[in-house]
Amino acid sequence: MIRKYTFGTGIRTDAVTVPIPSSEGPVPYLEGNADHTQYRYPLSDADAVYGLGEAVRGINKRGWRYRSFCRDEANHLETTEAMYGAHNFLVVKGEQTFGLFFDYPGSIVYDVGCEKYDRMTITLPEPDYDLYVIDGASAREIIRQFRHMIGRSYIPPRWAFGYGQSRWGYKTAEDIREVIRMFDQNEMPLDSIYLDIDYMERYKDFTVDGAAFPDMEGLVKECGEQGIHLVPIIDAGIRIEKGYPVYEEGVAGGFFCKDAEGKDFIGAVWPGKVHFPDVLNREAAEWFGSRYAALLSLGIDGFWNDMNEPSIFYTEKRLEKTLRGISRYAGRELSLQEFWDILGSVSRLGGNEEDYENMYHNIDGEMVRHDKVHNLYGSYLTRAAAEFFRKWDPDRRFLLFSRASCIGMHRYGGVWMGDNKSWWSHILLNLQMLPSLNMCGFLFTGADIGGYGEDATEDLVLRWMELGIFTPLMRNHSALDTRRQEPYQFGRKDAFRRITELRYALLPYLYSEYVKAAVNDDMLFVPLGLEYEGDPRAAQAEDQMLVGESIMIAPVYRQNAQGRYVYLPERMKLVLFRGASEYKETMLEKGDHYIPIAPDEVAVFIRQGHILPLAPGGRRVSEVDCRALTLLVCEGSEDARYTLYWDDGYETDVENPDHSTVLSVRAEQQPGQER
Ligand code: GLC
Repeated sequence: MIRKYTFGTGIRTDAVTVPIPSSEGPVPYLEGNADHTQYRYPLSDADAVYGLGEAVRGINKRGWRYRSFCRDEANHLETTEAMYGAHNFLVVKGEQTFGLFFDYPGSIVYDVGCEKYDRMTITLPEPDYDLYVIDGASAREIIRQFRHMIGRSYIPPRWAFGYGQSRWGYKTAEDIREVIRMFDQNEMPLDSIYLDIDYMERYKDFTVDGAAFPDMEGLVKECGEQGIHLVPIIDAGIRIEKGYPVYEEGVAGGFFCKDAEGKDFIGAVWPGKVHFPDVLNREAAEWFGSRYAALLSLGIDGFWNDMNEPSIFYTEKRLEKTLRGISRYAGRELSLQEFWDILGSVSRLGGNEEDYENMYHNIDGEMVRHDKVHNLYGSYLTRAAAEFFRKWDPDRRFLLFSRASCIGMHRYGGVWMGDNKSWWSHILLNLQMLPSLNMCGFLFTGADIGGYGEDATEDLVLRWMELGIFTPLMRNHSALDTRRQEPYQFGRKDAFRRITELRYALLPYLYSEYVKAAVNDDMLFVPLGLEYEGDPRAAQAEDQMLVGESIMIAPVYRQNAQGRYVYLPERMKLVLFRGASEYKETMLEKGDHYIPIAPDEVAVFIRQGHILPLAPGGRRVSEVDCRALTLLVCEGSEDARYTLYWDDGYETDVENPDHSTVLSVRAEQQPGQER
């Protein structure tokens, strides 16, 4: 059951697609203050708090303070409060179990037992929002109801589940060809190459640098003939440059965000000074979306939208003020305090949220200050693109994912987890963010495999890949000037090849589970605590989880570890893979086990009575053959059944029953296939 409480006159967010009538009376479970800007909930020792989407720390969010306010935050530390996405859904599971969704586009602070271990406090700046309180038989059921209310999650084309190689610094068409050559030479699977801002002319959206990429259309075709998709980046800021058509059109149409004086707001990002398209305005959003035609018409069918929090490196006014402030110290011997002042004022130049107070949107004729609707910006930018893709070709799915997001955007695209680092702790963070994002509707997600910032090492990339083969978005991406981390750069090329091949072998399963999760409003990555209710050990498992209905994963994420302890909440079959065709199967009883997992091995645990279909693999998603499946089975007392989903990889009719096949294995029979 979902109850909705409406306070004030909030801005519409379009997060909810199934309308719920507003209830009267006090909000259940929570103790609220009189002006509806703060709620408290006493946390008992047994309570766990799940959700909040993209955030640091564990799956159970208890013990820290999180802030919903989309932020270009390159430091994903334990103490980071706000990240790129702002996802206001959480589930309290314990003495009382219920879900909360704050439909509000401004800043919200969730203190989940941080200030006081036994208290959760939620604070909003103003009483203008809808609060949804969700009851259900279990946390999982509450999540399903929530997901149903916010509408079906985005489903990408199947090729987007293939391995993607990315790097900031592939500067020319020749660089792209070289990457493909290296993958081919090493017989490593590859489906897409991402184009970072290097492909643009002076970082201008919807342009191509003609010197570095003299024939982009030809390159897209050439790559396409080899089964490789090129996926360009699009940034939020539009460079201010006379004669640049996107800039000229935006100014002429009045499509950019304004400042307090009504002039086009100016910020500085990669291209230098930019204006931001006012995607919260219908007309401006349509215009911005239609600009993607410039690249779609070259044959491109996938994009990643970046810097759309929106990220602002500095504004002119703040730069001037900062420089003026610092200049007064010139020629002086600094006191310690003065030294700190200089450092502080320079560090406040970038990502300064005060800049948002001088930025305005035209929403249905009303000028709305940006900070009040901040979390919608990246989502609406991505939605503008998705809506245009639907017009461009209504019968085809396109790849689209974004850095900034809020709930509602999950219907239009996926998210990547932003600028992480080549740190071992970020493999675990990657794992733990998956179920939290799933709860909030984001199924198509993944982190920059190998880490974005800092230098990666071979052992780290290898272990990270062993998690990455399970994430829907499987992309290796790294920052300019960091050490190269394409799998062919390292010594154990065989191991990298075999691990990627395993991804392709698992594709029939992963793709089926993905589409089923989207259609059934379910999660793909499920914490054990949500499945094995009443098992206190399962509730504490923070570094292993279910992926779909048949398997559990427990990746190795510690440097030099040659294995790890795994908790089995039931009897399971361990399959230790060395690539797609070499694996060992062992039955394991419920309980704790130390599992040796060599650096080139992947451990998968099949649940009792379940089937894991395995394809022979392939070097492109299009080569994965679903007619020659091996069924790995963990026999139970009953026949095992599995519903396989397979379509043409592009079509939008995902509910067509012709796409599903039931595979079954008799309890006493040798594993085999019955179709
Ligand atoms: C941002 C993105 C990163 C990209 C860089 C340059 O930091 O998050 O992925 O490489 O911008 O475009």
